[in-house]
Amino acid sequence: MTGRRVLVLNGPNLGRLGVREPEIYGHTTHEELARACGDWGAELGLDVEVRQTDSEAELVGWLHEAADARIPVVLNAGAFTHYSYALRDALAQVPATTVEVHLSNPAAREEFRHTSVIASVVTGSISGFGVDSYALALRAIAGRDA
Ligand code: DQA
Repeated sequence: MTGRRVLVLNGPNLGRLGVREPEIYGHTTHEELARACGDWGAELGLDVEVRQTDSEAELVGWLHEAADARIPVVLNAGAFTHYSYALRDALAQVPATTVEVHLSNPAAREEFRHTSVIASVVTGSISGFGVDSYALALRAIAGRDA
């Protein structure tokens, strides 16, 4: 695959997709999501790499990598979305397109999910379409120059 590189970064608890509250997050496992992202990316000429971690430090490190190599990022920060200023500050350094994604629609859920501390530093946000949120995010990146 020789397309433009894209990092899809998934944060805490997203490794448990498929078993975790399927009525909210669906039945697709993280492995299936990763495969689907690779396929969607290939159709769009993107070389997609999907990673997942429960560690804030590891996510920050991956964002530094994206910042230094100017790689576009699709980020589902999980619960870190709502309070991690460290993640926000790392994301703000990425010069390429960055897309905040969520499977669910946090604005329609508990009050604490209504705040996203990363929303103001990403290029755009996509929420509420289940795994299709990732497909839409990849399409958005494919349509942009950087
Ligand atoms: C989530 C929404 C967050 O509020 C939650 O903490 C998650 C998943 C989503 O994809 O809908 O872990 O980011």
